[in-house]
Amino acid sequence: MSRKILVTSALPYANGAIHLGHLVEYIQTDIWVRFQKMRGHTCHYVCADDTHGTPVMLRAEKEGLSPEALIERVHGEHLRDFTGFHVAFDNYYSTNSEENRQFAYDIYGKLKANGKIVSRTISQLFDPEKSMFLPDRFVKGECPKCGAKDQYGDNCEVCGATYSPTELKNPYSAVSGATPVLRDSEHFFFRLGDCEDFLKGWTTGASTVNGAERPRLQEGAANKMQEWFDAGLNDWDISRDAPYFGFEIPDAPGKYFYVWLDAPVGYMASHKNLCDRLGLDFDEYWSKDSTAELYHFIGKDILYFHALFWPAMLEYSGYRTPTGINAHGFLTVDGAKMSKSRGTFITAESYLRHLNPEWLRYYFAAKLNSAIEDIDLNLEDFAARVNSDLIGKYVNIASRAAGFLTKRFGGELARELGDVPVLAKLQAAGDELAQLLEARDYSRAIRDIMALTDEVNQFVDANKPWEMAKQEGMDAELQRVCSILINAFRLLTIYLKPVLPKLAADVEAFLNIAPLRWVDAGSLLLGHCIHPYSHLMTRIDPKAIEAMVEENKQSLAPAAETKPALDYDVPPIAETISIDDFMKVDLRVARIVEAKSVEGADKLVSLTLDIGNETRHVFAGIKSAYKPEDLQGRLTVMVANLAPRKMKFGLSEGMVLAAGGDGGLYILSPDSGAKPGMRVK
Ligand code: MSP
Ligand code: ZN
Repeated sequence: MSRKILVTSALPYANGAIHLGHLVEYIQTDIWVRFQKMRGHTCHYVCADDTHGTPVMLRAEKEGLSPEALIERVHGEHLRDFTGFHVAFDNYYSTNSEENRQFAYDIYGKLKANGKIVSRTISQLFDPEKSMFLPDRFVKGECPKCGAKDQYGDNCEVCGATYSPTELKNPYSAVSGATPVLRDSEHFFFRLGDCEDFLKGWTTGASTVNGAERPRLQEGAANKMQEWFDAGLNDWDISRDAPYFGFEIPDAPGKYFYVWLDAPVGYMASHKNLCDRLGLDFDEYWSKDSTAELYHFIGKDILYFHALFWPAMLEYSGYRTPTGINAHGFLTVDGAKMSKSRGTFITAESYLRHLNPEWLRYYFAAKLNSAIEDIDLNLEDFAARVNSDLIGKYVNIASRAAGFLTKRFGGELARELGDVPVLAKLQAAGDELAQLLEARDYSRAIRDIMALTDEVNQFVDANKPWEMAKQEGMDAELQRVCSILINAFRLLTIYLKPVLPKLAADVEAFLNIAPLRWVDAGSLLLGHCIHPYSHLMTRIDPKAIEAMVEENKQSLAPAAETKPALDYDVPPIAETISIDDFMKVDLRVARIVEAKSVEGADKLVSLTLDIGNETRHVFAGIKSAYKPEDLQGRLTVMVANLAPRKMKFGLSEGMVLAAGGDGGLYILSPDSGAKPGMRVK
């Protein structure tokens, strides 16, 4: 039966870069979504940037940007990083969107109408210099227990004590350094305690999935809930005072929704935006009587928000609640918390500069299960495991068999293979592997797949195709054995495809077949022509790992004061020229009215540029950095008086400006308001 499934990962904050810790979650989710899609189910994977709150506001201020400009830039960076790791969202949106405002207002309004919102005056630390209330994390001072200096307002990193910011000795504002004062303000609260009966039932209950009962929470999460119920549920403060970057609360000028109120609502907003674009029925997924499944993948640190606040918000505003919350543990690197000084706080961007994303996808898959356990990236084990499993065992099967088929049989697979126990076993494994992936027990699935891979390699060693190739009259047998190997390789590829989507696509091209689905494990490739083998994956060079760690090492000096080390080369400045020299170059604002790939030229994009009174046609070597369709309509800057140049593909009438080097390639764009044809000087 085909299921309708909506899946989310937590929305990353818009004030920081994606790092390998985040990727545990996005890779775990992406594997699950790809698996569901391969099974033929309808599955939407939505996410967004979590854009509101004080940290984003202050970060933007520090960078001299508006919050909107900051979140727009970060959105691009996040999406670039996720795409680099083959995390394929159906929609990657923003909580600072109209849809999100509408849903936040709608939910808040219904909660209020249901008597779940109350207001109360509270006393909070206020920064008199910045004229703003200070979140706990922005008050520092001496720990009230052990006296350690420069501790945050909520807990002490030296002795581990937790306290309220008003208990700090000699407190100061981390924003301005001023001494905070206590000030009264009216806040709105969500009456969580009032939802206790519902929440106790919900968190211990089960959802029916495909006719079977499935607990909504993992065992570890359910236990945690019990501790929270025992401690008693407090009302939740959902408002913040201006200045704040977020949604202003209706009928409460100067009051804003706390970021965590509208963040999970962002799941709905992103999905609504997707539904509107594709003409899908949003209510089918979100109405109270929905039969679609809804899963949130999250880290263990944000369980409280997802297993208490969020279901309560949904329940009392008339929406369906999640089918399941899938929490995971935290990533450690070489057995310790990721560390900036040791270079193990590795950003996605820097990983991608040195290593293949599928190596990490594979390693995480080999370690992940459905429990809330921390997982360790041991860098030595990472290289050893990937090299042995993926290169030594898996890819090797194809490279050993394909050469003979191409050279001796024109790439044609045998028409009959006879009774082959190893293939029968591989085919029969599909159901069990599907159950393991469905249950997020990836590590066991990978272990089983590798055990099957070992059996295929034993088959190779028992049959020794390289010896058959030297013997007379063994042609048919050689073709049969190699065809068995190619079929085994194809079956293994089906099972690994959710984890290694890019490699699987390359295998599909090599085998000359349509995109593999899970059901394809039921059939074999017979009498079919494959392409010659071309390289599928290289081994990890430990030196590349060292270089990556080196690049991520930051000095222990306070981050704000140090300029981070540049992670790209800055070439020396060229010889001095006069203003007259410069004025010879006629630079113009140009609108890209058309951008197309150029057949036979991997690096080039063909651009048609509007420069006011005329159009120009230019070939630009920017294919590696831009998809042509993303360029269409953009403004850029061109050299308009460059002598035309005849190229193999046609005449190029000028040049588009781009920044570049080993840090990537970026075409220039003028500030908004510039018009085609304007001179740049
Ligand atoms: N913005 C909130 C989530 C809002 S969801 C409505 C947030 N953002 S985050 O950027 O801090 O984290 C995003 C996700 O990445 C969270 O699920 C978090 O648990 C996960 N991880 C962040 N660091 C991690 C590790 N070191 N290891 C594993 N997961 C980690 O929380
Ligand atoms: Zn202390």
